[in-house]
Amino acid sequence: MNINFTYVPGDGIGPEVGEAAMVVLNAMANKFGHTLEPEFHLIGGAAIDELGEPLPAETYASCEKTGAILLGAVGGPKWDHLKGADRPELGSLLPLRKNLNLYANIRPCKPYPALINKAPLKRERLEGTDFVVMRELTGGIYFGTKGRDNLGAYDECRYSEAEVERIAIKAFDLAMTRRKKVTSVDKSNVLETSRLWRETVIKVAGRYPEVELEHLLVDAMTMHMLTRAQDFDVVLTENMFGDILTDEASVLAGSMGVIPSASISDGTVGMYEPIHGSAPDIAGQGKANPLAMILSAAWMLRLSFGLDTEAAAIEAAVEAALEGGHTTGDLGGNLSTSQVGDWIAGHVQS
Ligand code: NAD
Ligand code: IPM
Ligand code: MN
Repeated sequence: MNINFTYVPGDGIGPEVGEAAMVVLNAMANKFGHTLEPEFHLIGGAAIDELGEPLPAETYASCEKTGAILLGAVGGPKWDHLKGADRPELGSLLPLRKNLNLYANIRPCKPYPALINKAPLKRERLEGTDFVVMRELTGGIYFGTKGRDNLGAYDECRYSEAEVERIAIKAFDLAMTRRKKVTSVDKSNVLETSRLWRETVIKVAGRYPEVELEHLLVDAMTMHMLTRAQDFDVVLTENMFGDILTDEASVLAGSMGVIPSASISDGTVGMYEPIHGSAPDIAGQGKANPLAMILSAAWMLRLSFGLDTEAAAIEAAVEAALEGGHTTGDLGGNLSTSQVGDWIAGHVQS
C-alpha cells in the first residue's frame, strides 16, 4: 500500500524524534512491502524562519490532501516574542486542529511494566493503571475571542452543546470497547461551560446504560490521578483541562517522551503527535526520547491507514526496547535519540 502522509517535524526536538520515527516507518515499509510516501513540510518556527509564516499554504494544502499528518512539535524561545496568530502554536497547530475538525484528542496512559521500577511514584500507585484521556480539542478557551483592552486581557471560553455531545459520544464509544467507565472532568462548581458540559455528558450517558459515569472536578482530579489512577478507564474532559492533565499523566507513564496522541474527527483524517513539546532545554543534543513520536507514527498507521499489524509490530518493538533498557536518559538508559530509533527499526525489520 502507498502510505502517503504529511511529515511536519517542526521545531526543537521535533526533527530529532521525527527522524527516528521515519527510520522506524521505513523499516516497517520494508518489512511489510509498503511504499512510504512522506510529504515533508515546514511548520511552526521553522516555517516562520524560512517562509515567513507558521502555517504556509503549501504545508496546509498537503495536510488537507493527505489527511494523515505526523507532527513533531512547534514553538520555542526564539519565537516567544511573537503575538497571537504570528506565534507557532496559535498560528499553526491550532488552525490545523480547527480547520481539519480534529475535535477528539486521544492520549493514553498505561505505564509499561519495564518502567514501573524507574518511576518516581511507588509501584502500587502505578501497577494496573490503564486509562485514556479523551480531550476535546477544537473548542473552549483556546479558541474563544482573546485580546487586550484598557481593563487588561481576556480569553473567552465557550462550548456549544453539540461540541460537548460529539466528544462525549467518542468517549462513551471508546469506553464500550474497554472497561466501560467514563470519568468526566470539569469545573462545574464555578464555570458555566462546565455546567453545560456536565448536563450534556449526563444526557449522552443515558444512551450507554452499560457504561458507568463518574464526575470529578478538575482540581480534585489532579490528586486522584496520582492516588487512584487504576480507577480510571476513559477520562473525558475539555480542551485546557485535558492539556494539563495529560502532562501530569506522563509522570505515571514514566516520561513526557512516551505518550503519543491522535487527533481525529469522524473519518480517517488524523494528526498524530507526541504530547510533549519542542523541549528547547534538550534540543540538538540527541537526548530526546523518540518513543512518543514513534508510537504516534504507529497510531497513524492504525487509524488513518487501517494497518493494525504494522502498528502492533512497532508497538511490540517499543516494548522490547524498554524491556531491554535500550532507552534515552530520561528512562535511565544511555542511548541517543537516533540509537533508540535504530534499535526499534532493527526490531521491526527482524
Ligand atoms: P515540553 O514538553 O517541550 O518540555 C517539558 C519538559 O519535558 C522539558 O524538561 C523537556 O526536556 C522534557 N521533555 C519533553 N519531551 C521530551 C522527550 N521526548 N524526551 C525527553 N524529555 C522530554 O514543554 P515546554 O518546555 O513547556 O514547552 C516548550 C515549547 O514547546 C513551547 O514553545 C510550547 O509552546 C511548545 N509545545 C508544543 C507542543 C506541540 O507542538 N504539540 C506541545 C507542548 C509544548
Ligand atoms: C499540546 C500543546 C499545545 C496545546 C500547545 C502547544 C498549543 O501543549 O498539544 O499538548 O496546549 O494543546
Ligand atoms: Mn500540552
